[in-house]
Amino acid sequence: MATDQLMALDLLAAVVTTAAWLGAGVAAALRRPRLALSLFAAAVPASLARVGSVFALSRAGWWFAQEKVTVALPLLLVTGLVATVLAGPRLALAARRPSEPGSAESPAVVVPLLSTGYAAAAGLVVTLVFGYPATWSMALITVAIVATAVLVTWRPASVWRRTATAATTVTGLIGAGLAFLPAEATDTGGGMGHPAIRDTHGEHEGHEGLGERGGPVAVTSLRGPAAPAPGGTIRRYTLTARTATITLSSGQRVAAWTFNGQAPGPPITAAVGDLVEVRLRNADIGPGVTLHWHGYDVPSGEDGVPGLTQEATLPGREFVYRFLADRTGTYWYHTHEVSDRGVRMGLYGTLVVGPRSTGVDVTVPVHTFAGRLVFGDHDQPIDQRVAPGTPVRLRLINTDNTPHRFTLGGTPYRLVSVDGTDLNGPGELDRVGLRLPAGGRYDLSFTMPPAPAGSSAPVAVLKADDRTAAVRFTPTMESTSIAPGAARSDEDTSGWPELDLTRYGTAVANGDAMPFSAASRFDRRFTLVLDRGLALVGGRPMYAHTVNGRAFPSIPTQMVSTGDLVRMTVVNRGRETHPWHLHGHRVLVLARDGRAPSGSPLWLDTFDVRPGEVWEVAFRATNPGLWMNHCHNLSHADQGMALHLAYEGVTTPFHGTHGG
Ligand code: C2O
Ligand code: CU
Repeated sequence: MATDQLMALDLLAAVVTTAAWLGAGVAAALRRPRLALSLFAAAVPASLARVGSVFALSRAGWWFAQEKVTVALPLLLVTGLVATVLAGPRLALAARRPSEPGSAESPAVVVPLLSTGYAAAAGLVVTLVFGYPATWSMALITVAIVATAVLVTWRPASVWRRTATAATTVTGLIGAGLAFLPAEATDTGGGMGHPAIRDTHGEHEGHEGLGERGGPVAVTSLRGPAAPAPGGTIRRYTLTARTATITLSSGQRVAAWTFNGQAPGPPITAAVGDLVEVRLRNADIGPGVTLHWHGYDVPSGEDGVPGLTQEATLPGREFVYRFLADRTGTYWYHTHEVSDRGVRMGLYGTLVVGPRSTGVDVTVPVHTFAGRLVFGDHDQPIDQRVAPGTPVRLRLINTDNTPHRFTLGGTPYRLVSVDGTDLNGPGELDRVGLRLPAGGRYDLSFTMPPAPAGSSAPVAVLKADDRTAAVRFTPTMESTSIAPGAARSDEDTSGWPELDLTRYGTAVANGDAMPFSAASRFDRRFTLVLDRGLALVGGRPMYAHTVNGRAFPSIPTQMVSTGDLVRMTVVNRGRETHPWHLHGHRVLVLARDGRAPSGSPLWLDTFDVRPGEVWEVAFRATNPGLWMNHCHNLSHADQGMALHLAYEGVTTPFHGTHGG
């Protein structure tokens, strides 16, 4: 069974267990011994089922079961055993003689049944409210709360009451005290601690991303070059952020936050070797704006993270970004200040580094405006007339917070590039769905097919989410042959299976595309367990999106040194998809759910970690700076699911507790 199904099953078992034990206790107290007995008879197997589901979850990964094994199950088993021994026989007796008063509602029956119910409920609350990792503080407080509830129900004789109350209070106080222990601010991932330690080896001198003599360096000094590479030119853009009403292709008007009055903002294009120079001005976006180059590994000082690499550019101010176009591919830019609202409102645009393909090359950022799916600025299909035989490249960019599914009908095609990196040996695709994570990019390529004689209908149609035609390609002339076997452009695509990227393309054993593998020796290892839980987000308690039980800015910063080989495990314990995005680095996928990709090497900057999934990825730390590492469902990031990855010795003059 898949881990997300196991998680759902375990949740169900926990709810049924809780309801059955509590129900049995209440029924007994209300002198309904028969009902109490049947609920008890349901509670016992439900509890055992819970043991089974927790065991199965622990096999899927300790992260999925830890607090259940250490807190929830012991509480349930101890109380359940006592209840079975004390209440079981009495209840069976009472059920046989329901008219006889006194046996079912006696404390020896009611108290253990209710207590087991409390314990089961507490286990459920621990999972839903705190989750991974279980702490001593959480365990002790939980025990104290259950004990208090038991004491209130039981009302034991006064000697017992005093001792039990004292013990409970002490347990609770110790638990509460432990909660106030100062939290670790950094996570070294098991690597060498401080740069001073590394310096004694002398081997990395001058390559540490540190100052001249190995001293600290400010992130604000890690900037792009002043001139292009030989043969390149300077690509100058001015983007002025301002509120405006945009008009979609249907004529619908939408109040938006724009760059130069348009949403998406002006497309930025460059060729390898060019210097991209973008002057950002803010006219009237109150909270401020920045530019982040999503997926483009620019120097840290150009990365556009407010409070970390720069201050947000406020109305009336400007900031100039400069970086070398050193890699081809499809990327995008967006504001990182109040990014959830800002991007949703329209502060984004496309970044494509060429050479562009000869033929037709279309870039389609997909975004939801006012509840409608918009392709570029089209809320109706984009119609393109293309001569048969022309190579077509379609660059899809998901600028929303949730994944979109795309299908291309009418012609076989290839998925040639993901997140700006070309795949190795991408095979021909037909009748499959492509799920594009939030923030991710797919480049599709095909040769324009001819049209059947007498028809002027589109022969290739790209659909989004199986309903909306996004782009329709119509041939400029007709022919008598049609592509044999390919799906028709008007076919219903909703039943098409989803392409598994980890099995697509051809494997590479080593070399540039595969410089390391799961067997490599890693300098640092980090684990991120994603969930929901009660946590402080910027000082405010909320039901947050958490990483290892904490929320931004209290999640320990991951520390690396230049040159480190870093392995990152990302686990999703929750019920929502988390598109994980590390700034400044592409990561190589080592495994998903323990299985290494069998197809092309996968270099991604945004990968969907779905409920129950475990991703292992790795990267070489070659871009010194201070970086965000966050969920690209920007509303999740806003609710805590964000942290920093910092290189030893890099400092920020900004407050650092903000990430947009
Ligand atoms: Cu596209 Cu930190 O984001
Ligand atoms: Cu998320």
